Amino acid sequence: MPIRNPEVKYTQLFINNEFVNSLSGKTFSTFNPSTGKKIADVSEGDKADIDLAVTAARNAFKLGSPWRTMDASARGAMILKLASLMDRDAEYLASLETLDNGKPYADAFGDLKYSAHALRYYAGWCDKIHGKTIPVDGNFMTMTRVEPVGVVGAIIPWNYPLLMLAWKWAPALCTGCTVVLKPAEQTPLTALYMAALAKEAGFPPGVINVVPGYGPSAGAALASHMDVNKVAFTGSTEIGHLIQSQSGTSNLKRVSLELGGKSPLVVFDDADLDEAVKLCADAVFVNMGQCCCAGTRTFVQEGIYDAFVKKAKEVAAARKVGDPFEEGTIQGPQIDEVQYKKILELIESGKKEGAVVECGGEACPGDGYFIKPTVFSGVSDNMRIAKEEIFGPVQQIFKFKTLEEVIERANATNYGLASGIVTKNLDTALTFAHSVKAGSVWVNCYNAVVVQAPFGGYKESGHGREMGEDGLKEYLEVKTITIRIPQKNS
Ligand code: NAI
Ligand code: MG
Repeated sequence: MPIRNPEVKYTQLFINNEFVNSLSGKTFSTFNPSTGKKIADVSEGDKADIDLAVTAARNAFKLGSPWRTMDASARGAMILKLASLMDRDAEYLASLETLDNGKPYADAFGDLKYSAHALRYYAGWCDKIHGKTIPVDGNFMTMTRVEPVGVVGAIIPWNYPLLMLAWKWAPALCTGCTVVLKPAEQTPLTALYMAALAKEAGFPPGVINVVPGYGPSAGAALASHMDVNKVAFTGSTEIGHLIQSQSGTSNLKRVSLELGGKSPLVVFDDADLDEAVKLCADAVFVNMGQCCCAGTRTFVQEGIYDAFVKKAKEVAAARKVGDPFEEGTIQGPQIDEVQYKKILELIESGKKEGAVVECGGEACPGDGYFIKPTVFSGVSDNMRIAKEEIFGPVQQIFKFKTLEEVIERANATNYGLASGIVTKNLDTALTFAHSVKAGSVWVNCYNAVVVQAPFGGYKESGHGREMGEDGLKEYLEVKTITIRIPQKNS
């Protein structure tokens, strides 16, 4: 059951296993997007605090430290403990997430369970990550050993605060790294509670640090820090470019980027219409449209186009928008005024450029940042709503004729995060899967993001993969150890 007014227990920075004020003493406010009202003031970290947190993380990473001498299996047990503590406090944490982010409670609860699942998945990997022995030329025994990359800076967005935290912490802790996390300024609260749980789970001081603050100050300090070995970033493509340059102008730290998207979801004439319409609606409207892999470009083949548009309008209009704490609500508010205005401006641009508003197309009356589920039909590829990431509850429906045509149009974007196809024809599905330039291809499903399989982008949707075995590589160095075999024994 949701807790409508969850008490905010932690508002300070978490460094070296202690909650502390920022050195400047500054705070910033976090708001409830359902009402626009302030929830709490949170300590605002900047460069000086990031320095302290990185030092703590560096000390925790030193050879001989409790963290570095711990058995890998014990590390796994500690991560499992953290996941159990999340389960223990699930209702509280999910409620806090809904308060700070605005997502429906059922979704926040689902995110929480999924986050714990990600921790458990990587907990199992801890003592199963190993190198190779290699039959090299010469009289040598050569082996590789994989080692943690070091101090990880994690910079995450506001759309899935708990989940993005888990996606960074789980592989980092699994591999034996230490972490400084900067949550998004819009949603710092659940990360701070997670810090308290990490301490309770027994992580040594400095292994996990959380420094809330703004991007250009705290975030940039982390991304350009000379003593951070890797930055894992999820957020906008614009800031992704900056993060990568900051690595280039500092210490060439490793960077993984999970950025924006404008993902195509293609429906062929042979699809079951009702199922396809529902799948496409969920693909774009989930999480108020604030999803990096949202299927925002719905391509529908001409034979079912009119029927599809009619149904898509009905399905979107029936979505219950409102109080995210109320049972049955599937759409809450957008995260903040900035995003709300950006989305409404893009909706206006769609109208001006000649797309047809089938439903929605405006804000909901009253307080908070609510926008009506919006369906545009008659969208052409050169419109802004066809090209720009809207990150809101706005579906664009395009008409197409042939597979060749739709593959070309699907790929005509600087993004390449995800894609989907709905068809009963295996050849069509395979050709699409083979040709589309995207990190994920979902056939007759969408948003099937699972902990065991890699997720990430092509092109300006970023690089590096998260989750699955591939996700581990981002956090590991490979050391090659070559030993000469004494001649007399060879
Ligand atoms: P953003 O990319 O500015 O924020 C993401 C994170 O980066 C936050 O923690 C922020 O504080 C940090 N950040 C911002 N500037 C930074 C800098 N100079 N150096 C280091 N860190 C920095 O995203 P924002 O402004 O919240 O949203 C803008 C658009 O980005 C959205 O409308 C959406 O299109 C896209 N976006 C995509 C996300 C995804 O999951 N791929 C998540 C959030 C936003
Ligand atoms: Mg920003």
